[in-house]
Amino acid sequence: MSTEVQPRAAAAGRVQIAERTLRQDRWWLQPLITFAVLGAFVVYSTFRAFWGRYYYDDHSHLLSPLYSPCLSDRCGTAPHFSWFPTWTYIATPAIWVLIFPLGLRLSCYYYRKAYYRSFWFSPPACAVSEPHKGYSGETRFPLVMQNVHRWFFWFGLLFVGILTFDAVESFRQGASGQWGHMGLGSVILIVDALLLGLYTISCHSCRHIFGGRLRNFSKHPVRYRLWSWVTVLNAKHMQFAWVSLVFVALTDLYVWLVTANVFSDPRFF
Ligand code: FES
Repeated sequence: MSTEVQPRAAAAGRVQIAERTLRQDRWWLQPLITFAVLGAFVVYSTFRAFWGRYYYDDHSHLLSPLYSPCLSDRCGTAPHFSWFPTWTYIATPAIWVLIFPLGLRLSCYYYRKAYYRSFWFSPPACAVSEPHKGYSGETRFPLVMQNVHRWFFWFGLLFVGILTFDAVESFRQGASGQWGHMGLGSVILIVDALLLGLYTISCHSCRHIFGGRLRNFSKHPVRYRLWSWVTVLNAKHMQFAWVSLVFVALTDLYVWLVTANVFSDPRFF
């Protein structure tokens, strides 16, 4: 009796299937939703970044996260960098600020998967053929540049600190900048900083910082403990990525409406 198995034919190349996919489910739904939400965020944030108005409210001391840290002299009594070189005025302050959070999100391992699928169809979903002929992964320029993510992670941490500072600043009120006030805007800024913090701390690079390059954990109990905590958060990284992204846009919208006097920030005390 012959026991010979014949894996060679399969190993020689991909199985030739005429259909684009054999999947019966609605595999296209997730890339479609990703395309719609990411696309809407890109359109909204680009519009706001180029507009250069309604990003700081003098009375309630609310600063939009898209314009934080404030690089112009339009932030009233709030700490700002009005010494920023004048040649930078060729673009709004948000354009300079957004380089960093955008770099973090664009090179994020989760977002890569999301936009490779929904914008480049590479592939659009598991077990669905892609329109591209070749595949070189992220081994060549420009995609090899995605490796900068490990550096953008540190900028992400810095921005968590900056947004926390902005949230604390919103406890001031009026032109005098008197402390001891809190409004709905303060709560929104706090939640925004918290969500960005969860998104950043749950980053794959952060997990690697604590648990990577170790032969065993037994000699590094502190790093093991930190790695374990980050691992729990890391499992939710996709959710943090979406919620924090949408909340940034909503926070900016809130500051815009308050600054444009559509309504005033309700104060709790
Ligand atoms: Fe998403 Fe690092 S993997 S922020």
